[in-house]
Amino acid sequence: MNFLIINGPNLNLLGVREKSIYGEVSFETYFEELKKMYGKIQLEYYQSNIEGELIDEIHRVGFDYDGIILNAGAYTHTSVALGDAIAAVNAPVIEVHISNVHKRESFRGKTMIGKDCIGTIAGFGLDSYRLGIEALLSRLD
Ligand code: DQA
Repeated sequence: MNFLIINGPNLNLLGVREKSIYGEVSFETYFEELKKMYGKIQLEYYQSNIEGELIDEIHRVGFDYDGIILNAGAYTHTSVALGDAIAAVNAPVIEVHISNVHKRESFRGKTMIGKDCIGTIAGFGLDSYRLGIEALLSRLD
């Protein structure tokens, strides 16, 4: 089973950026833990700050992999093109957010990609990614 976690803009700064919202752990450290937890899954990670690169990555894996866990960062709230990319591929996509976007500024409650995803997980810190994996696994059962 192949799952890809995709992180969008500014998520390369996890552990450094706005720690009170996003925590103190880098994604690389957390990703090592995740890989240990899910030894039987082929788990990969990709990050880019560039919208077109995120789209290219969705196209690259979207016809082969069993699922994508996507934290599109701020592009969640703005990108019609990312939504179209998700709609274009076969792989199920779970939208995840570290913070509870509904408890923050009102623009963060709007998602341009949610309608093209299986569902959304938000507000559980980095554990949102593990819950995303569980959501994909429960669909494949
Ligand atoms: C985020 C929430 C977005 O509103 C924000 O722009 C991010 C991170 C989250 O994981 O909580 O960059 O997607």
